[in-house]
Amino acid sequence: MATGEYPREHARSMNDPEGFWAEKAEALVWDRKWDQVLSHDDPDGAPRWFVGGRLNTCYNAVDRHVDAGRGDAIALIHDSPVTGQTRRLSFAELRDATARLAGALRARGVEAGDRVVIYMPMVAEAAIAMLACARIGAVHSVVFGGFAAPELAKRIDDAKPKLILTASCGIEGSRVIPYKPLLDAAIAASQSAPEACILLQRPQCTAELTPGRDTDWAEAVAAAEPADCVPVAATDPLYVLYTSGTTGKPKGVVRDNGGHAVAMHYSMKAVYNMDAGEVFWAASDVGWVVGHSYIVYAPLLAGCTTILYEGKPVGTPDAGAFWRVCAEHGVKSLFTAPTAFRAIKKEDPEGAHLQRYDLSRFEALYLAGERCDPDTIAWAAGLLKVPVVDHWWQTETGWPVAAVCRGIEEGTVRSGAAGLPVPGFDIRVLDDDGQPVPADGIGNIVIKQPLPPGTLPTLWNNEDGFREHYLSRYRGYYLTGDAGKIDPDGYVWVMSRIDDIINVAGHRLSTGAMEEVLAGHPAVAECAVIAVEDATKGQLPVGMVVLKSGVSQDHDSLIAELIQRVRDEIGAVAAFKRAYVVQRLPKTRSGKVLRKTMRAIANGESPSVPATIDDPAILDEIREALGTPVGSA
Ligand code: COA
Ligand code: AMP
Repeated sequence: MATGEYPREHARSMNDPEGFWAEKAEALVWDRKWDQVLSHDDPDGAPRWFVGGRLNTCYNAVDRHVDAGRGDAIALIHDSPVTGQTRRLSFAELRDATARLAGALRARGVEAGDRVVIYMPMVAEAAIAMLACARIGAVHSVVFGGFAAPELAKRIDDAKPKLILTASCGIEGSRVIPYKPLLDAAIAASQSAPEACILLQRPQCTAELTPGRDTDWAEAVAAAEPADCVPVAATDPLYVLYTSGTTGKPKGVVRDNGGHAVAMHYSMKAVYNMDAGEVFWAASDVGWVVGHSYIVYAPLLAGCTTILYEGKPVGTPDAGAFWRVCAEHGVKSLFTAPTAFRAIKKEDPEGAHLQRYDLSRFEALYLAGERCDPDTIAWAAGLLKVPVVDHWWQTETGWPVAAVCRGIEEGTVRSGAAGLPVPGFDIRVLDDDGQPVPADGIGNIVIKQPLPPGTLPTLWNNEDGFREHYLSRYRGYYLTGDAGKIDPDGYVWVMSRIDDIINVAGHRLSTGAMEEVLAGHPAVAECAVIAVEDATKGQLPVGMVVLKSGVSQDHDSLIAELIQRVRDEIGAVAAFKRAYVVQRLPKTRSGKVLRKTMRAIANGESPSVPATIDDPAILDEIREALGTPVGSA
């Protein structure tokens, strides 16, 4: 049951959202106070927060702490087991590095409102790049390093950046991945490529710069005049982050400056119980929303030390890596995806590595990104002897929607549930007709408008798509795309997606995008990609393809081509390693592919055969195919 300040705090955020958020916003420095806390004149659109207000997010995250006398406090630790290096930057050093890079951007014509694509590995410069954009009001769009060139090209074409910030390589475990060939291929494939790139040379693999286009990062920064923070409107975009939708076209989630800064700052204490000077570690990647919110912006806005970790939970060098980082840097709270803990549990089920480290400063573990199995929660809690908090959010919301808010309550964690609604979020469960589902009944999870500060105000260049995807299904509610229930005590249980989005090792991917890639192969007549359960990664994609008549290529070589195609078009991160050739796909008589039925078969269930199926015999072939791994890795 919820206790402490939480019930009162949540009720106030519902009954008086303007008073509640105005009070939270006072913690930041504003160049101009807002005229209106909340504007929601168009009930079919998103609300706008702090209208008329002006501030700078980088100032609040970095310079503000220097000005308050905390310039020597450590802001950012880059911990990189893959290079054997650790680098610490104080708030003053982070400010100087950010101001110089901002100056280099400005020297190349980047101004407030211009987009900058950031395609970088997990190095301190990735965070500096984001902050440098924020400093001059430019809009960054970070692209995850595990995406292949065509995915990068799609994002370049949509964001139309003035400049790209990149590095010579990323390091995945013991593998060095050169970025320059990917960058060149993406620029060649793009219609809106910028004229300038700044490239960080890493000693593990230096890149040959393209004359007239590329500048060496160190030279650009050395030659730059430091740039000061530029106040922007609270409602101006801070960043665009592309996320998987149901098709191959990623959705550009927009984040504003004012609402975002307020929500980030508030969440660090309320949700994560963090105070300035304490060490927070989100073991994710800057390319995902967790990286934006909880590696870069929120911890810095709250004056915490943040850790940017370039390594894996296992193999860099062993399953004790997370405990080493926590002990060495005095981490108070760790946030990661359940898949990372499943990987550690698989390698070190007894937790033997933990014995080598002193975790006395470690207070809580937060898990999100996918549904967490109760076994993993119990294992982690038993081993670490700290609260393990499953909490639920998505790229679109930018911060947790449901959690056990440890800063304002002593409520207990309920295994299997993602916690209680976070202040600001009014969570409901509706049936397909829009009627409220009673407690414990499964339905569509929605958030009643107005969405709180920090959530997406629109999709980049796609307001119509934003309304259609999220706001049109139920008037007055935001459709999360997740299905689940609220139990009689108010805990939210997130059970599954209602669309074709899957979650592979905590990475959000679209089966629709993979189907588009398979369908592009000349031998494929039609196809379906479904998610099967996986003990470590949660879900893995599996393809079913029907060949065009007359195709004589042997199936093993064809499947190898299809697997490579997904890797080349989407990226290794898709983990697409299984596909089968079948005679036909199971369909309804009206031609709808029965993905849910195939998914159930793949997961070893015995689904009831839909009455509308056109040919029940086809399910036997699917069963047989899935039991006969062809071309599996
Ligand atoms: N750049 C280039 N390639 C990348 C990459 C990056 N930034 N990130 C992942 N890849 C590659 C991997 O090397 C792997 O390639 P492979 O097929 O050649 O082996 C492939 O993409 C799949 O990566 P991943 O799913 O991460 O699998 P893994 O076996 O390397 O690691 C885990 C498995 C569970 C340890 C890892 O996924 C993990 O730590 N997950 C944490 C989840 C997370 O950070 N989620 C973010 C949201 S909170
Ligand atoms: P992303 O946008 O990559 O953060 O992915 C968001 C999606 O991940 C959500 O819509 C959910 O489907 C899933 N998800 C995130 N956190 C949880 C959680 N704690 N429990 C269940 N599903 C989750």
